[in-house]
Formats: sequence, structure tokens, C-alpha cells
Amino acid sequence: MCGIYCYVGKKKAIPVLLDGLASLEYRGYDSAGIAYVTDKINIIKEKGRLDNLKKLLDLNTDTYLGIGHTRWATHGKPNKKNAHPHHQGKVTLVHNGIIENYQELKSLLKEYKFKSETDTEVLCCLIDKLLKENNNILKVLSKLNELVKGSYALGIILNDDLNNIYGIKKNSPLILAKSDIGNFLASDIPAILKYTNEYILLDDNNIVKMSKDEVKIYDSKLNVLDKKINTFDGDINKISKGKYEHFLLKEIYEQPDVLYKTYLENQNLPDLKKYNKIHIVGCGSAYHAGLVGKYYIEKYCNIEVNVEIASEYRYKNNFINKNTLVIFISQSGETADTLACVKKVKDKCDTLGIINVIDSSIAREVKNVIYTKAGCEIAVATTKAYSCQILVLMMMALKKDITNLISKINNLLKNDYEEIAKKIYKSEHLFYIGRDIDYYLALEGSLKLKEISYIHSEAYAAGELKHGTISLIEKNTIVIAIATDKDLVEKTISNIKEVKARGAYVIYITTNSLDQESDFYDEKIVIEEDIYQPLLTIIPIQLIAYHVAKLRKCDIDKPKNLAKSVTVE
Ligand code: F6R
Repeated sequence: MCGIYCYVGKKKAIPVLLDGLASLEYRGYDSAGIAYVTDKINIIKEKGRLDNLKKLLDLNTDTYLGIGHTRWATHGKPNKKNAHPHHQGKVTLVHNGIIENYQELKSLLKEYKFKSETDTEVLCCLIDKLLKENNNILKVLSKLNELVKGSYALGIILNDDLNNIYGIKKNSPLILAKSDIGNFLASDIPAILKYTNEYILLDDNNIVKMSKDEVKIYDSKLNVLDKKINTFDGDINKISKGKYEHFLLKEIYEQPDVLYKTYLENQNLPDLKKYNKIHIVGCGSAYHAGLVGKYYIEKYCNIEVNVEIASEYRYKNNFINKNTLVIFISQSGETADTLACVKKVKDKCDTLGIINVIDSSIAREVKNVIYTKAGCEIAVATTKAYSCQILVLMMMALKKDITNLISKINNLLKNDYEEIAKKIYKSEHLFYIGRDIDYYLALEGSLKLKEISYIHSEAYAAGELKHGTISLIEKNTIVIAIATDKDLVEKTISNIKEVKARGAYVIYITTNSLDQESDFYDEKIVIEEDIYQPLLTIIPIQLIAYHVAKLRKCDIDKPKNLAKSVTVE
């Protein structure tokens, strides 16, 4: 999702801005731009990667103040015209979020000639218009909340005020950092770690005014605030690829460590048995983690669990009461739909977040929070955070030691599954099948593969294929079949035989205790059995996706069209 990076200080601004924007690349983007101040405001933007923008810039330019942006297109195509910064009148700004009432606002701004298709430019005009009525930017920004619906984090500079950067946020993340070389506004913590590990989390409707010598934060009534300074206690060096070719691979291999850390630091988990119903809400892989949690909580705690996609949950009748616990799962803690669901239900029932990013919006909104200790996840596709989410859910249900599990994961990580990937990478279609817990893993496997390798993949409950989808199975269609559950293995094998009979090329994933020699598969992956089975099953699934994507020469850490932190609805 869009990244904001603003700097004012002692160093030449263009290299600082480009560097900062590069550290936000993992959020996903399709164009980039900066505005920097010389004796005037200069705006340079370009479609595509930061390298394209860099070619248009002179890194030595005498400029010490600038605002930068990586855009993930929402309103309007990913092109140069729609890239940020936008400029109207005396206002130049970068924006992360969505202005919901931009059409309505646009109709009130007829005197402006719009140059882009974005909602952001409307905001630019609105601020300019308000400044014409009252040339006091702090007062104008304090009114935005009344006029603008939606979400915004903004970095703003003004033609007649070239020494200051202004910022404001509502429902989109923005942090402030002061350092020896100057002051920063950024969308996320990794962007400032090169210069400082101290940062201030801005709250909704906080307004920032910063020059190279002074930073002030105001509330919406323009009272000056003295806000808490947080310290990032992670290892900054860990936010590099180290010996690995991609962050995704590094993050897969970090799993034994981060799982163990998550286990050790979460020994006192809430008692689920006091609730008579549990809802688990998340998006994408977090939703898939919730499904695994459902399996374990229902099996070991005997409590009914519904797992819901956040973008659906927020618009329907939720049937909750004070005996319901709603668990929100999110790596980033910023996912807009998940956050909206917390706000919707938090006064009606207990809420618990399973969150990776400390002090993120969802973490601050829920009643109780359990932090996964996955560390900074840079690859857009989640791996280690997903596993930690699953572990937390399983621990709430099981309360069992994981020392053996960790050594089994380490054993599995000795294989790279590249040979299996070679059988797959030329296919354009693929099926993942499994039953119950294995189906939930199939969903995640299918998502992982399609998002990073762009192979069309579908996950099916194994018994469901024959109700329609089996018509798509033909000679050499790849089917990855997961069967790790002893009560269901025979049923799954029957379904595998059905696809095999129609020519499928079957890759069979099972456990050592269920393993059998047979001709219903073409390739076999055997995993050690464990009560925390999904945390083992997921390893070959992740590595297969990685190697397939690598063989297809995909941009593994930054897949096209995807964003790491999905702050739009
Ligand atoms: C897939 C993936 C996404 C996220 C989803 C939720 O690899 O990463 O599906 O799981 O966007 O994100 P968070 O967990 O940040 O709420």
C-alpha cells in the first residue's frame, strides 16, 4: 500500500528520500514521486519502480526538505499523472488512504482544473481552497476531519512556507521520528531505522509541523501535545536479506526461531473456556490461520468457532454477545477491513488481537493483544507471521511444549523441494486438495503459490471436486494433495484416485505414520507427524511456492499488484 516518507534536515534530501522510499517498497507500489524544495517546490514522479524515478533526479541537488511517496493505485491507473505528490494552488502533498466522499468534494471544487483521476488531488484542492479562506494551515488541517470521509495520512508542503513539512493522519498509519540528521514522517518504522530507533506513533487527527530545528504535534483543537517516544527494540540488521537471495526465503528459514520466541513470550494465554462462542476475523493468510485455529479450538476446547473474512464480517449481522470472544488476526495490524471490524464489535463483546506489529492500529484498538514474535516481515507474501499466528491459536487450545516441533521443522528445512518445483513451474493451472485441517493448509498453499508465481491455483475440499470442478482435470494437471489426518486419509486417497484416473499429476503430502507405497501419486513428500502438524505441513508448501516463483523468474518479494499493508477497504 502507499508509502509516505518526508524529510527535513541537514543532509541532501533526495538520496535520503529515495533511501527511505526504498525501505517502504515492501508495502507494494506501482509508481513513485518526490517533491523537494530549492527556492521553489520541484515535483518529479514516474511510473513503476523507484529506479525509474531515480534516473530523473540529480542526487546532489541542494535541497534539504522533501516529501516522497510510493503509490499503490486505487483511484486511477498506475501512471505518472496519477502518481504523488499532487499539486494545486499553493499545496503539494502525498497521501496514503482513500477519500470516500471525493466525488462530493469535487463537485464543490469546480474552480480547479484536475490533472489526475485520484481522490488525493481533491484533497489537495480542498486544502488550497480552505487556505484561501483562512491562510492558517494548522486551522485548515484541524477541520479536515469534519469535511473528509475515509482515511488519510498526509505529508504536505506549501509554496509560501518552504521551511516546514506538515502532516496529519486519520485511519492510516503515520509515524514521526527525530534524529541527528533531521526529522521524518513515515508510514512505517523500518523507514527510519537507518537514522534512529526512536519514533512517535501519531494518533488520529494529530497534526505535525516540522522544520529542521523544531517539531510540534497538535491535537485537533490545536493544543500542543507531548507524546510518548517509543523505542524499536528489534535488530535493525535483521531487516536485510543476509545470506539469502530473497526476503521470502529468509523469512521461511527464520520460522524455527520466531516460533520458539513466540512460544516463550506467550506463556500466559487467555482462557478460552469462559466463552460460549468464538469468532475469528482476518483477511487472506490471516483468515487461513484462523481456520487452522478453528480446527484446534473446536477439537481441544469444544467451543464453536466461526472464522470470518473481515471485509464480509463488517457488513453483516454478527450475532455476538458478552459471552462471545472475537479474535482479530493481523500481521501488520493495519488492515483496513479488520480494523473496521474491531471498531464495529468492541463495545459488544471481548476482543483479542493476534498481531505482529507492536502498537499498530488494531493492537491499540482491541481489548487484549497477543503479539506474535515473527519480527519484521518484509516479503509481501506472509510466511513466518502466518506460522506464528497459527502457533498462538494452537497454544490457546493445546498448551503443549514445542521443543520437538522446532527440531522437526529444522529437519524439514534441510530439503529445498526445488525438484518438485521443477515439475510444476511450467503449468498454468494447479489444484491443491485436502480435507478439514489439510483443506485449510491447501487454501494457504494455493494462495502462496498464486500470489508469488502467478500460476492459477485453486484449493478444494477433496470431497467437493467431483461436484463440478473435476471437469477441469485433464492429462498432467498438477494436483497437490495433502493428507495428514489419520481419520480422513483413506477418504482423501479415494479423491486422489479420482483425479489420478483422469490423468492428473499428483504430488502427495503426508506424514511418516500414514505413508504407504502406492501408485496413486507421482511425487511424495513425507513429513514427520506432530500434534502441531500444520506448522510442519506448511514448510514444503511455502518452499514449493518459492522455488516455482524463482523458476518462473518472478519478483518474489514484491509480487505485482500486491501490497504488504492493506490500508484500503
Ligand atoms: C498473503 C498475505 C495476505 C495477508 C492479508 C492480511 O501472503 O500476506 O493475504 O495475510 O493481506 O494482512 P494482515 O495480516 O497484515 O492483516
